[in-house]
Amino acid sequence: MNKQRDTSKLWGGRFSEPTDAFVQRFTASVNFDRRLASQDIAGSLAHAHMLRSAGVLSESELAQIERGLAQVQQEIDEGAFQWSVALEDVHMNIESRLTELIGTTGKKLHTGRSRNDQVATDIRLHLRDAIDAIGVELTRLQRGTIELAAQHSATVMPGFTHLQSAQPVTFGHHLLAWNEMLQRDYGRLMDCRGRLNQSPLGAAALAGTTYPIDREQTARALGFDKPTENSLDSVSDRDFAIEFCACAALLMTHLSRISEELVLWTSAQFNFIELPDRFCTGSSIMPQKKNPDVPELVRGKSGRVNGHLVCLLTLMKSQPLAYNKDNQEDKEPLFDTIDTVLDSLRAFADMVPAIRPRVAQMREAARRGFATATDLADYLVRRGLPFRDAHEVVGKAVALGVQNGQDLADMDLATLQGFCPEIGQDVFEVLTLDGSVAARDHLGGTAPDQVAAAARRALALLAERPVQDSAGR
Ligand code: ARG
Repeated sequence: MNKQRDTSKLWGGRFSEPTDAFVQRFTASVNFDRRLASQDIAGSLAHAHMLRSAGVLSESELAQIERGLAQVQQEIDEGAFQWSVALEDVHMNIESRLTELIGTTGKKLHTGRSRNDQVATDIRLHLRDAIDAIGVELTRLQRGTIELAAQHSATVMPGFTHLQSAQPVTFGHHLLAWNEMLQRDYGRLMDCRGRLNQSPLGAAALAGTTYPIDREQTARALGFDKPTENSLDSVSDRDFAIEFCACAALLMTHLSRISEELVLWTSAQFNFIELPDRFCTGSSIMPQKKNPDVPELVRGKSGRVNGHLVCLLTLMKSQPLAYNKDNQEDKEPLFDTIDTVLDSLRAFADMVPAIRPRVAQMREAARRGFATATDLADYLVRRGLPFRDAHEVVGKAVALGVQNGQDLADMDLATLQGFCPEIGQDVFEVLTLDGSVAARDHLGGTAPDQVAAAARRALALLAERPVQDSAGR
């Protein structure tokens, strides 16, 4: 049916020799922009309906176009569509097949539009769907993170600064710190979605068109909030792609930070958590190895997303208005960013709820690191010492502990009183890990009650998120 495809150029009229074979391949985008086929067909249907309302197409012409585009979509879905590099891009491949299927009427579809507003529309639609899909995976990851945090609101671990044991925190508190990063990522993606959701359709090549088009109608039909304001800007703007990649780069940076912690924590030296075997791989030479490949790979993939952001910024830098062929280069970085973020989030959303914390090891590590030294200083302040003097006293006690391999909580009262006679028997309450975390009992603090309440608030925020259909309505 599709065999002897007419691949003569849709724009061949003014040319006196065929395109050089290499140039044809060099300038073609169909091998990667065919991914926009469904959005391209949706845009064409909205455009055709509008042309009918404007009296440019007859009722039967519209019906033919609808029938033809439905068949094109079906052929694409079934893998039967013959993509042709000679037809350059997704737009001309589909239009050409449509004309093959329905004849001359197919040639009327492009009335009052250009590939320039067409491609700008297609990318926005595609990216909008991608953001919604990313939103779903991100929400799944956040829910898993928060639920694990709620289970471990009282599980003690060392908190770190400079990767040195600093003060005890709860594991739930640490997990909710991850969630805060992800919560901001979600907000940024939704801001980006809000700004991109305007319809460039009708800008045509750059100046608008002489036909009595209704841009509100096509905008509505495609689920856009409204049409864009300026035709020149409409065909040249790729801010939304850059903005998305910036959100994605920051999101991947967060996943990379989390990955780093998971890699450290699974090591024998930390031994804080176990990752189920299904997220790890072995070594072909060292039989004892269980490597945290998933977090390592996500950490690595943050690099390519950062690269795509710089690529798009550089692509747009110095471009004069309006459309330039440079813009065809926006797609591969954008698509790879979408795929990388979706895959990374999916892996994380599956893996994070399956993390098995080694509660006893975490507690032991917190106990060993003089993590309650600040609590002892705060205790002395309550006994009337200025904080700097208290700091000095505790520093001396820690120095002795380091020398003897002994934690503050393991020293006897007489030893502690040797550093400061103000110390009483009640000091041992503040030197316990549970006492230390429970004392940080305020909004944003690590006390178990605060962590449990913060987890409840975080889950409530997730419940407020809109459930969107693919058209975003
Ligand atoms: N394949 C092109 C792109 O991706 C479509 C627009 C081409 N427009 C043009 N006048 N050559 O940007």
